[in-house]
Amino acid sequence: MNNLIDIMQLSKEELLELIDTALDIIANPDKYAESCKRKKLATLFFEPSTRTRLSFEAAMLELGGSVLGFSDAGTSSASKGESVADTAKVIGCYADIIAMRHPKEGAPLVASRNAGIPVINAGDGGHNHPTQTLADLLTIYREMGRLDDLTIGFCGDLKYGRTVHSLISAMTRFTGIKFVLISPKELEVPSYMIEDVLVKNNIPYEITRSLEEAMPSLDILYMTRIQKERFTDEAEYNRLKDSYILDADKMKLAKEKMAVLHPLPRVNEISVAVDKDPRACYFKQVRNGKYMREALILKLLGIKAGNAAHAEEQTVEVVTDKFKCTNPRCITCCEQEIVHEFKLADPEKMVYRCVYCEHEA
Ligand code: CP
Repeated sequence: MNNLIDIMQLSKEELLELIDTALDIIANPDKYAESCKRKKLATLFFEPSTRTRLSFEAAMLELGGSVLGFSDAGTSSASKGESVADTAKVIGCYADIIAMRHPKEGAPLVASRNAGIPVINAGDGGHNHPTQTLADLLTIYREMGRLDDLTIGFCGDLKYGRTVHSLISAMTRFTGIKFVLISPKELEVPSYMIEDVLVKNNIPYEITRSLEEAMPSLDILYMTRIQKERFTDEAEYNRLKDSYILDADKMKLAKEKMAVLHPLPRVNEISVAVDKDPRACYFKQVRNGKYMREALILKLLGIKAGNAAHAEEQTVEVVTDKFKCTNPRCITCCEQEIVHEFKLADPEKMVYRCVYCEHEA
């Protein structure tokens, strides 16, 4: 079954192939206008969204298909206690492909194991957001003309920022990448990203609190929102919410060719005055998201199959009877019937992580 739950399911060749398809869609939209005739996309959004849901729907409509779904879990039978697995089995009877957003980490993985049709992770809690990464990659490629040899700064909420986690992972597919991780101490990139992604792949990175100091070295600045909805302590959110604000003065410190990306929505972390700067690419990024989602739908439905080799599946030891996930944001913690699975992430240190949310055992 073709699913996209984690961006690392796509090889470098597949990422480039999706970019090629998206560029062809941009150049020849009529060629694709009936590609998905009689196909149905179900958008199951258990958490709010503007861009992801509507760009998936626009993408399917532009491919000649139809859309169904819900944008408020309160109007679905989840509000009566229906599990993610049962919901996925039901939607598999109506649609050809699912895009799911859920506040619980690992929920789209559960859906993909039950739906019988392709499932796309449209964002699971603070974990992953692989289709935002597809939008980000096309934007970087179109703005910089390359995906290699880049210094990329991530700024803001790097702990719960699922778009950050997916883009860092994807960029390890390319060469000459360096990361500058700009955040308050409380919102640093999770340790599993540092150990399992950056250290394991020998990717150079720097952790800093200062956006100003980082600015001159960056080719890409990826700003993020401090996400109120991820905090359990409102006082901590209020203390951290204005940690970084990109304004016209800070833009003066940047390279002439730097590109500013932001997955949006923004609150105040990029001043509106920056929108006029030719280096501000976040609204182009929104448009690119629709093209990449079109390319992905075509690939997962097998309508435009390329020659690119699949990402090599890592064989990791998985245990089901040893640990229970204690991450309150994990789907296993709210749906009792899901078997707790842990993968051996680091055989040397014997570190096990939850298959659904990466939480360490
Ligand atoms: N970037 C993004 O995921 O936006 P939405 O929350 O509006 O979908």
